[in-house]
Amino acid sequence: MLSKNVGLVGFTLARVSLAAPQATKCASLSLDGTPPGTSLINITSTERYHVTVENTLFNSTGTVSDISFCDVQLYLTHGDAGDEVRIAVWLPLEGWNGRFMGTGGGGFNAGLFDPALADGIQGGFAAAATDAGVGLANDPGPWADSKQLVTNFVHLSVHEMTIVGKALTAKFYDQKPAYSYWHGCSQGGRQGYVEAVQYPNDYDGISAHAPAINWDRLMPGFLWPYLKNLETPLPACKFIAMTAASISACDLLDGGADGLIGHPPDCKFDAQTLVGTEVQDCVSDKRITKEEAKAWNSILLGPQTPDGKRFWYGMEPGTDLSFVVPAPFQPAESWLQDFIMDDPEFNSSSLTYKTYLSAFATSVAKFGKTWGSTDADLSPFQRRGGKLLTFHGWADQSIPAKSTIEYWERVRQAFRPGGTSVPPGGSNVDDFYRLFMAPGVGHCANFGYGPGPLYLVDALVQWVEHGKAPETLFAAGFGQTRNLCLHPRKSKYKGRGKVEDASSWTCV
Ligand SMILES: *[C@@H]1O[C@H](CO)[C@@H](O)[C@H](O)[C@H]1NC(C)=O
Ligand SMILES: *[C@@H]1O[C@H](CO)[C@@H](O)[C@H](O)[C@H]1NC(C)=O
Ligand SMILES: *[C@@H]1O[C@H](CO)[C@@H](O)[C@H](O)[C@H]1NC(C)=O
Repeated sequence: MLSKNVGLVGFTLARVSLAAPQATKCASLSLDGTPPGTSLINITSTERYHVTVENTLFNSTGTVSDISFCDVQLYLTHGDAGDEVRIAVWLPLEGWNGRFMGTGGGGFNAGLFDPALADGIQGGFAAAATDAGVGLANDPGPWADSKQLVTNFVHLSVHEMTIVGKALTAKFYDQKPAYSYWHGCSQGGRQGYVEAVQYPNDYDGISAHAPAINWDRLMPGFLWPYLKNLETPLPACKFIAMTAASISACDLLDGGADGLIGHPPDCKFDAQTLVGTEVQDCVSDKRITKEEAKAWNSILLGPQTPDGKRFWYGMEPGTDLSFVVPAPFQPAESWLQDFIMDDPEFNSSSLTYKTYLSAFATSVAKFGKTWGSTDADLSPFQRRGGKLLTFHGWADQSIPAKSTIEYWERVRQAFRPGGTSVPPGGSNVDDFYRLFMAPGVGHCANFGYGPGPLYLVDALVQWVEHGKAPETLFAAGFGQTRNLCLHPRKSKYKGRGKVEDASSWTCV
């Protein structure tokens, strides 16, 4: 199940009312020209009424019902590359809010289509998605060797989708969208960051969360916990117990017994303190050994060189390790098979520390520049007045929270007086890029146990259109509410009031 508590709800903004009924225009909608370097294969458009879409990403009930829209489906190709890039654009038949929304993908899918589009439509947006020409199989095997498809996936297709989506929106409503927004998480978060850096004019506001930037390191990084488990088998009963012990040890560092580690970098928990402890949930071998404690510590520290130097981030204390310890994270295994080893049969269970180090190095050397998405030059985006809004869960079980913090830190350095991205005298990063860390929240608000942010797009719209920058992000879930703090501030319990309530906390 995808996230239920990443909000795209509660729009109170005025909707553009349309004088003429739009339905008649749908069937004959056509595209006047295509993005440079592309040509149109075909286009169809159909009115669809009272549609229900299940498993939506951002609607807290998981279902969007009774939406009516003009459903445009088209395919583009690049020169004689032979690729077939699908783009879908959904245009509300009534209640268009005057805005365009580009939606992102997840894993090795460039777009999520209906579940993402339906959320946009429910908020009144005209919304678009693309598959980058790689389909929706979430498997890079068939396309890893295609230069065109890799380029499409890494950056080009979301840009072309944006051009096409805006053009069709303008044509359908006889009015250009007043504002354009990006909305995505994970792969969709990476795409949002790439848009901000490479195509800064595409979007006025970018809502991009738990971004899969640093892809060249992220992918092999996923396999570190699994490798540790190959070296020292770490039964679930034990890593769960060690994680629970880390939460108990560090819960009160923020003053409130809410069952969450407010700011994991403050948590200096060492699993060695548990050696010899019996874990009642284990059927046999109940005692935590020195080696097991060492493995857990190493998973949290992240990949290290033989002399113990960390070269990529690990998981934070309080993170559920059950996705990455017992079995290889599938997209990471695909990455090794299709991009690093050139061996579709490669099985992560044959990894050794030595092959791991060499796979990591290959990934960085071969793909850092293209897939890495590490470029943090947001100056063109800042100059055009763009706003970038990001949340990342401190208990993200797939993308290390510190990967995003490191990016944010680089942007901040660049905008310091005398930095590389300068307006003279520097610029306050908070004016255009805001990061919110979410205690106890898992990947894209899935699987965690802390309250996840709601109303992300609303907050961004307020910032872009009314200059009201979000100081906190409202979060709810798992019986708690919280106002997530603007990084680098962190949440502190006021010392009175229910710990479950946002009003009992402040940002320090
Ligand atoms: C449009 O082109 C794509 C790609 O070649 C194809 O899969 C699809 O069936 C075509 N659709 C129509 C309606 O012809
Ligand atoms: C989710 O979708 C349903 C059906 O369209 C709607 O009634 C409900 O208000 C939505 N929930 C939120 C939180 O937006
Ligand atoms: C990889 O090897 C392990 C251990 O032999 C096996 O359990 C697993 O099914 C294999 N994975 C695939 C995808 O074949």
